[in-house]
Parts: sequence; structure tokens; C-alpha cells
Amino acid sequence: MLQVRNLKVSYDGVLAISKVDINVGKGKIIALVGGNGNGKSTTLRAIAGLNSADAGQITFDGKEIGNLPAHKRVGLGLSLVPEGRRIFGRLTVQRNLELGAYTRRDTHEVQESLENIYRLFPIIKDRRNQLAGTMSGGEQQMLAIGRGLMAKPKMLLLDEPSWGIAPKFVTKVLDTIQLVNEEGVSVLLVEQNLHKALAIAHYGYVIQTGRIVMQGAGQDLLNNDDIKKAYLGL
Ligand SMILES: Nc1ncnc2c1ncn2[C@@H]1O[C@H](COP(=O)(O)OP(=O)(O)O)[C@@H](O)[C@H]1O
Ligand SMILES: [Mg+2]
Repeated sequence: MLQVRNLKVSYDGVLAISKVDINVGKGKIIALVGGNGNGKSTTLRAIAGLNSADAGQITFDGKEIGNLPAHKRVGLGLSLVPEGRRIFGRLTVQRNLELGAYTRRDTHEVQESLENIYRLFPIIKDRRNQLAGTMSGGEQQMLAIGRGLMAKPKMLLLDEPSWGIAPKFVTKVLDTIQLVNEEGVSVLLVEQNLHKALAIAHYGYVIQTGRIVMQGAGQDLLNNDDIKKAYLGL
């Protein structure tokens, strides 16, 4: 569904990522894991069209999208849930969701998506008239994922959804991601929390200083001694 080839991005001439190759198959959850500052967000933002790439090809659903502006990529079915959630705290939960449908014109279908999200996340439905900023971090993350789904995506790009969430809610957020995936949405999941991410991923990539240094099935990576040493401190 998504093929990234030889992706390279720099900021003011300083290389952030290079030669990044990633595949996300239809219906899969693929993890991209690595420590802080290694290029995870840069990769996702380049795929979403929010960072311009110096080189590389990005193919989504059979189309080369590397030269399309971000909103066109959203329109084709690629939806980014950004780092730090970026919900609008002073707007209601429902208004936040509605804003996620900004590329869509059919109000009837948008309403259907809203109902669908409320079905998937009853907590969000219960709080629909509440100001989003009054919710817990975990609930805000679910709202951010819900907002991403309002674009009716074929694929979600999730940037560190477990960031800043109480540990007991991390599992809940990951369960939510699995649920969304089971509903047919492919997922590219970026995480520092590699143990949690690889536990739900079909396949994973490890990024270090802007390069993919390892890849494999989630469980294989978790059992890999080099990874244990480098990332888990075992
Ligand atoms: N807007 C920016 N301007 C300049 N440098 C940036 C910017 N965003 C990220 N970087 C640099 O690019 C590298 C990768 O950052 P990032 O993609 O945010 O990593 P991660 O998401 O893995 O923490 C880091 O060295 C970071 O300092
Ligand atoms: Mg990041």
C-alpha cells in the first residue's frame, strides 16, 4: 500500500534522514522504532507531505505522491496523527473530530464517520460536548486518532501515540490502534516505546541517526540481542 524508497530529508543543509526504505502492506501494522532525535517524525512528515524531501520516491496505493501537497495526500487516504496530539483544547471533542474531515465534502458521509468513531470509542462519545483540553492524555490521544480517522483514511501514520500518557492507558491506546487496524485501516506506527510497538506490529523497522539499521518481524526484533542491548538495556 505504501512504498518509501531512498527517502532523504535535510533541514537547512543538515541531513536528518537518508536512504530510508519502508514498506507498509495493505491491512498491516508496521512499526518504525528508534530513540529520540533519530528521524522518526521527519520520516512520517515527509510521507505526509509536511516536510519536503531532497530525494526519494513515495508510492501510495499505486500512485507516486512525492510531489503532491499534504492535503492531496490526505484526500488519497493517508492521514497523519501528529506527535504531541495537537488537539484543540478549547474546542469540544466533537468539533475536534469534525475538523479532521476538512478534506471531505459529503456531509452525510462525514456524519457516518463520526458515528463510526463513536461506536469504536465510546469514551469519546461520552465526552463529545466536553472541551478537549479537559480530558486525560490517553483520552486526548484517542481523540487525535479519531480525528485522523475522520479523513476516512486507508492508512494512518501515527507519531508516538504513547507519548505523555499514563502507563496504564498506553495499553488502551495500543488496543485502539489494533481495533482500527482490524476495521481495515493500514498503520505505520512510530514509537520510542519499541516493546509496546513491536508487540502489536506485523513487521518493524529500527531507525538510528536517520538510517534504517534493522528490520524484521516484530517478535524477531524483540528477541534480537543487539536490539535488547541498544534499546532495552538488557
Ligand atoms: N524543524 C527542524 N529544524 C531543524 N532540525 C530538525 C527539525 N526537526 C527535526 N530536526 C532534526 O532532525 C533530526 C531528526 O529529528 P526527528 O525526526 O524529530 O526525530 P525523532 O522523531 O526520531 O525524535 C534531529 O537531529 C532533529 O534535531
Ligand atoms: Mg518525533
